[in-house]
Amino acid sequence: MRKAFPRTGTDWKTLEAEMAGMSDGDIDWRHGRAPLYVFHGSDSAHEVGKQTFMNFFSENALGGRRAFFGLKRMEDEVVEMGLDLFQAPDGAVGNLSTGGSESIFMAVKAARDWGRDQARLKEPFNIIAPYTAHAAFNKAADVMDLEVRRVDTNAQRHADVGAMAGAMDEHTIMLVGSAPCFPHGVIDGIDALSELAMARDIWLHVDACVGGYVAPFFQRIGRDIPAFDFALPGVRTLSADLHKFGFCPKPASTLFYRFEADRERGLFHFDAWPNGQFSTATLSGTRAGGAIAAAWAVMHHLGQDGYMAIARDLAAMTDAYVAGITAIDGLALLAQPHLTIINFAAAKPDDLDIFAVAEAMDGRGWLPGLTQNPKGMHAMLSMFHETGREDYLSDLASCVEQVRGANAASDLKAVY
Ligand SMILES: Cc1ncc(COP(=O)(O)O)c(C=O)c1O
Repeated sequence: MRKAFPRTGTDWKTLEAEMAGMSDGDIDWRHGRAPLYVFHGSDSAHEVGKQTFMNFFSENALGGRRAFFGLKRMEDEVVEMGLDLFQAPDGAVGNLSTGGSESIFMAVKAARDWGRDQARLKEPFNIIAPYTAHAAFNKAADVMDLEVRRVDTNAQRHADVGAMAGAMDEHTIMLVGSAPCFPHGVIDGIDALSELAMARDIWLHVDACVGGYVAPFFQRIGRDIPAFDFALPGVRTLSADLHKFGFCPKPASTLFYRFEADRERGLFHFDAWPNGQFSTATLSGTRAGGAIAAAWAVMHHLGQDGYMAIARDLAAMTDAYVAGITAIDGLALLAQPHLTIINFAAAKPDDLDIFAVAEAMDGRGWLPGLTQNPKGMHAMLSMFHETGREDYLSDLASCVEQVRGANAASDLKAVY
């Protein structure tokens, strides 16, 4: 039955209790039982983000230029800190958006409009991406009538740059590389993609949505992280989400452009209506002031030291997960993770159905993360996952035994 619009109002205490009850059956994500959707760096960063969000709860970044000058300054400074982190050259610019999908959408729009200015490029346009690129590229392409050509990855599940070069033609406007890709957590060979982009004068977008704000700190603590940012001359746009491993409240992402003229292509301007000039750098009009102020506060609260400290914790935790998983007889990694995303499978898929293992884990209260082609289990680890680590690994080992013993099979489907 459809819920009726309430005839009378209800006090906050009653509502608060009712809503808490509505979430009673949720996955216990605070203790690491959700392998995606949520992120945690440190308790203090969480509190600073939450408090600042509330302090700027009503401000609207759409009015940053005309009314909310403090918010506008914070937004500009968040962008500048990102440009600094990603080694952008003078003249590079950027803006905040509400998430990775929106940042990718705006980069694709800018590339499409650039493509239209290039006499040598012919419509209908296409984008060449590794098979592992995020679905958001197809979403953007769907809206803009573009084609995404997904190219199989190499044996390490990194972008196969030679095969991507072979898929290009006179309709190609953009190459995509991920840093890292969501399915396997590996950083594509952005250096080779950069060379290809330069040689063919094609736009290269680096999707650092999931890893952008943690990869530089993994580098700084001495982990072997390949170059992926504007230090590579072919990188034209880069997206990185603050609301993921930047540990800022949702919704907050950043999109950076090497050239100011490209951001102009990403903008939307319209004047032919009663309220006059309307210009935005994002799909959204109204934007939560809280998210922007919170990003500014969390970045200042943590500083490089704070992000490095979290990177050390994340790296140690991921290593412990990897060691625990690979110690389980019958399991093997599908790729060597660069950061904190792990993807593993049955070492011999004919002997063990990994989706049956996932189903057994589900039965024990662990939301399973799955990949298809290849079939595997997947987890994006943040500090929520430290408390549950030993339970996860021991449940995983016993689920593998249980499935093997029963020779169980599953018809689960991978769902994001
Ligand atoms: C590599 C990558 N790109 C883009 C996105 C999309 O981000 P959002 O969900 O914020 O739109 C994600 C989300 O996980 C991602 O992992």
